[in-house]
Amino acid sequence: MKNILQLIEAEVEKIFYECGYDKKYAKVTVSNRPDLCEYQCNGALAAAKQYKKAPIMIANEIVEKLKNNEVLKSAEAVMPGFINMNIDDTFLARYIMGMSIADKFGFEAESKPMKIIVDYGGPNVAKPLHVGHLRSAVIGESIKRIMSFAGNDVIGDIHLGDWGLQMGLVITELKRRQPELVYFNNSYQGEYPQEAPFTISELEEIYPSASAKSKTDEDYKNEALEATSKLQNGDRGYIALWKHIMNVSVSDLRKNYQKLNVNFELWKGESDVQRYIPDMVQRLKDDKLAYDSDGAIVVDVKEENDSKEIPPCIILKSDGASLYSTTDLATLIERDNEYRPDRIIYVADKRQELHFTQVFRTAAKAGIVKESTKLDFLGFGTMNGKDGKPFKTRDGGIMRLEILLKDIEEEMYNKIAENEKRSFEDDDEAKTTASVVALSAVKYGDLSNQAVKDYIFDIDRFTSFEGNTGPYILYTIVRIKSILNKAQFSNEMVILPANSDSEKNLMLELTKFAPTIQSAYEELAPHKICSYIYDLANAFNKFYHETKILSEEDVSLRSSWLQLILQTKKILECCIELLGFEAPERM
Ligand code: ARG
Repeated sequence: MKNILQLIEAEVEKIFYECGYDKKYAKVTVSNRPDLCEYQCNGALAAAKQYKKAPIMIANEIVEKLKNNEVLKSAEAVMPGFINMNIDDTFLARYIMGMSIADKFGFEAESKPMKIIVDYGGPNVAKPLHVGHLRSAVIGESIKRIMSFAGNDVIGDIHLGDWGLQMGLVITELKRRQPELVYFNNSYQGEYPQEAPFTISELEEIYPSASAKSKTDEDYKNEALEATSKLQNGDRGYIALWKHIMNVSVSDLRKNYQKLNVNFELWKGESDVQRYIPDMVQRLKDDKLAYDSDGAIVVDVKEENDSKEIPPCIILKSDGASLYSTTDLATLIERDNEYRPDRIIYVADKRQELHFTQVFRTAAKAGIVKESTKLDFLGFGTMNGKDGKPFKTRDGGIMRLEILLKDIEEEMYNKIAENEKRSFEDDDEAKTTASVVALSAVKYGDLSNQAVKDYIFDIDRFTSFEGNTGPYILYTIVRIKSILNKAQFSNEMVILPANSDSEKNLMLELTKFAPTIQSAYEELAPHKICSYIYDLANAFNKFYHETKILSEEDVSLRSSWLQLILQTKKILECCIELLGFEAPERM
């Protein structure tokens, strides 16, 4: 389905052509002066130069021929040569009806669907999930949903950090605390216990204490490095212990992500690609791409037009250990083998940009991915506290995601309980509602900012029912649901031409659905969907305050309004689904 701008532009193009002007000048945009008109074309100004005429003359000529056009209600030439246009009310109402029966409200899916992998979440096993991983999960989930809505075949991979030094640290600490454990006995031949020798809360305490010790105690650190290398080389006892760490940690991660309504198709990690590393390194050497530099194996990736220095990509450290780049390159090999993706999108902290530049360039140079495979890095900024510094707990520690979510749920519960506890069947409903609304507060608070920017995590603002927030959007949806529940309406799908400015404005907002999703899709920009639904919700609320929908006696008018708000609800719901949250029945 063509969008409204394209339809208007087609009309304007026809006239430019009829008048002997190049139709490239017929570009139409949404007006930047909504007080004057709805759409505008500034092409007469540019055409004036080519045709050596006053812009207003050209504008007048065009406007004359735009009269009696079925798409436009009015067209006006304004000095020095703007063309201001308003859309025809009947045409607009028909367009909304068309949208409501079209697949995806007229948004056109990709004609050549791609296979896309979204690499997001990226938590590190054995370390507690903290707020730093929240952004990757929230943004990545939305990107995945948008890609898939656009018709692509999308796979989300959590890409666990499960093979690094943190594993060596945990093992070292365990060995100090419980040296008698069978995993540390080299001569042990039997089966290892099924049960892990620690719980998740113990594990969460073990890692930070090991990490702190390694910073002050050189011997401790070396022991941890050695343990990491022993693990990577397949020590039986360490592998068994590692499996316990994985099981305990991953089941906790699953719970946390489930709470966030974030779902991964794949739970792969760095450890899964070890087997590709030796061959990969050999190939890089054979192809004369990798060389020895002070004992490390590196690949040059700088390019002529680089504006800043891009250092070589290190493939192996001098002690032979693999690094972050090594596992990312090996993961590309595996992904290509198993899924043949056309595109991979990595969602990670923007401070990792250099790492991804190095990995992408090495992959391209070495032919690890096909030339046609698109590799994108979507880097996000830091989540700061109200003081503008990275978000911390009240006592300055790292905020655990679980605690953060619980705090927000509680805050939401108190609000809801205060407001309208009486309208809930029971306390369980209030609690469930509080958690649904809390999630919208967190996700919308994050997604409404352009990903690359740092933002301030302001619980008070995010949980407010007013302003540009998730709860406000949900409140709007719930309000529409409640009107629709009270109304009896026929299934007759007729939307009449708008009766008021606020009604027309609501219709105009609805027509922006497809172009908004299109640009959010092309630019990997969920924030565009947020600002769209904020405008749409405002347009609805204005219309609602000015219009007595349920008490309207003219049956066809009432039914038309009900249809209009039903479409509004459907579009809002579709958008929040793309953002990764949902609306409750009441709130
Ligand atoms: N585990 C990493 C971290 O916590 C993020 C992983 C991002 N994905 C990737 N393929 N490198 O920083």
